[in-house]
Amino acid sequence: MGHTKPNDFVTVKTSLPTSPLPTNHARSPLTTGRLLLRPLAANDLEAMYVLRTQEDVMRWTSAGCIDPNIEMTRDKLNNFLPPNDTKTFNYAICLKETGDFIGMGGCHLFPAEHGWPEVGYMLKKEFWGQGLASEFLNAWLRAWKELPRSERESNVAKEMVNSEGLVQEHLIAITEEANSGSQRVLLKAGFEKFREFNEEDVSQPNGIIKLIAFRYFPSREDL
Ligand SMILES: CC(C)(COP(=O)(O)OP(=O)(O)OC[C@H]1O[C@@H](n2cnc3c(N)ncnc32)[C@H](O)[C@@H]1OP(=O)(O)O)[C@@H](O)C(=O)NCCC(=O)NCCS
Repeated sequence: MGHTKPNDFVTVKTSLPTSPLPTNHARSPLTTGRLLLRPLAANDLEAMYVLRTQEDVMRWTSAGCIDPNIEMTRDKLNNFLPPNDTKTFNYAICLKETGDFIGMGGCHLFPAEHGWPEVGYMLKKEFWGQGLASEFLNAWLRAWKELPRSERESNVAKEMVNSEGLVQEHLIAITEEANSGSQRVLLKAGFEKFREFNEEDVSQPNGIIKLIAFRYFPSREDL
């Protein structure tokens, strides 16, 4: 899938993770029962290229297609390496037992086109269906919630917020309507579905894509 940009924005007062975000160097790895989540590094390039050349993975991402060459993967990886690490909060997802890289996920856009931070994740196909994305997302959300916060004004797309003025901090995830697995991961982690919309699919001529936006409120105690 590929998104078009929203047109109407409103200014809201909200809290957000303090920018610049911690550098990769300052971030502690996170562990779960089966996973090690660590900052991305330059030598993840080959493993990331393997992930980003799996068609079954890439068809659900904003790129909509596999990376045509490793230089494209390098450009993507550079978004998460110094000096860009303080603008994103993305992690390599590795098996705790072996250290093998099996995917990546986190906040890859802050702010995203709609103004809020956006979370996403992708795992190599052979690791789907074992609850690993849910394990990743729960651990990552804890780390996101623990980041220092600042009160600030922010421009967000009108359709990505219920009101103007003072609003609760949002974290957004956008899935294709057909991506039931990812939607299940989000709902299980405490996200709520709040908007369905169609967008031009920039990856194909005259293509329309059905998307669902989910939101999460990091400041809510019960999540
Ligand atoms: C989305 C993705 C990360 C899910 O990874 P995963 O490790 O298989 O996810 P989990 O096992 O933690 O959870 C998947 C849930 O969806 C359910 N599910 C999977 N496929 C489903 C389908 N086609 N229909 C309905 N439910 C489905 C699973 O049963 C599971 O729910 P459960 O725990 O209640 O049984 C993985 O499929 C992926 O990398 N996809 C490609 C990239 C992508 O789509 N990224 C998200 C973009 S928004």
